[in-house]
Amino acid sequence: MLNKIAEPLLQWYEKNHRILPWRDSGNPYYIWISEIMLQQTRVEAVKPYFERFIRALPSVKDVAECPEEQLLKLWEGLGYYNRVRNIQKAAVKIMEEYHGKLPADYEVLRSLPGIGNYTAGAVASIAYGIPVPAVDGNVLRVIARITENDEDILKQSVRTRVERELQEVIPADQPGAFNQALMELGAMICVPNGEARCEECPVAHLCMARAHNTVMDLPVRKKPKERRIENRTILVIQDGDKVAVRKRPSRGLLAGMYEFPNLEGHLEEEKVLEWIKHYQVEPLHIRRLENSRHIFSHVEWRMIGYAVRVAALEEKNKKDLIFAEKEFVEQNYPIPAVFHAYRSDEK
Ligand code: ADE
Repeated sequence: MLNKIAEPLLQWYEKNHRILPWRDSGNPYYIWISEIMLQQTRVEAVKPYFERFIRALPSVKDVAECPEEQLLKLWEGLGYYNRVRNIQKAAVKIMEEYHGKLPADYEVLRSLPGIGNYTAGAVASIAYGIPVPAVDGNVLRVIARITENDEDILKQSVRTRVERELQEVIPADQPGAFNQALMELGAMICVPNGEARCEECPVAHLCMARAHNTVMDLPVRKKPKERRIENRTILVIQDGDKVAVRKRPSRGLLAGMYEFPNLEGHLEEEKVLEWIKHYQVEPLHIRRLENSRHIFSHVEWRMIGYAVRVAALEEKNKKDLIFAEKEFVEQNYPIPAVFHAYRSDEK
């Protein structure tokens, strides 16, 4: 089946692809950054992040030299912050070993921090025209349907097989367009949620799932392990026009990011006020904020919040809390999305 897909796919892609700020740029650095961002969210959501990132850091050298805080700030809202840390590690290596240019070699790309088969394949094929596949979730779904394969697409063995099969049929003269056509088909036609738009699909006539009416049963994904639920209490502590943030530990969840102080469990007002006194601050007023929740890959936080006004403090009493004006916090401290529901409560 797969050996017939290239031509109709390429024709369809030629006419229907979206214009994206990194696409057709031919700039390997742009392709790299966009592909890492696209592992986290949809194309439309990535655009503003991509533009902001590139404006601030127009080259590999700029990323390599960027202070960590600014780097995390540029990634704020995208999540999985280790990805941007790996981008920087790779950028340093590219500066030191490859004269600041992403290597035009699939295996060498794959050896860089944070670059796996998919990203190496995307950069090699799209930026350098090297005929290697780039298999992401979209591509796995499209191929599972065309070949009517009901194996679990989360299995590494399935991904490896799909990579091998695509390697056989990828057109040597247009590997980048071919890979992007598969991704684009997955994003726009052979969609993950809701009804596939098979009437518009350029390879519907080759699709086994379509022929046997099993499109909506595929792909098969074994359910991942359930997430642990954690209750937390978030505190927006304000001293005049300043708000308290603190740095998270350098390891574990959201390592090295900044946060509003928060405590395990759903705490009553009295308990919060008691805890706050450890900072030898004088609570003046406490107000309950909205509940919110945030889903990480392995944990879900169910949050309650309080805004607490406190009296002016001596610097020495503040321990790990940093009190800063709201605008200063916004501009200087990377605060992950999990806390964003409480940002507007600094009033
Ligand atoms: N999703 C991830 N990478 C993509 C790309 N290059 N084109 C379309 N969708 C994508």
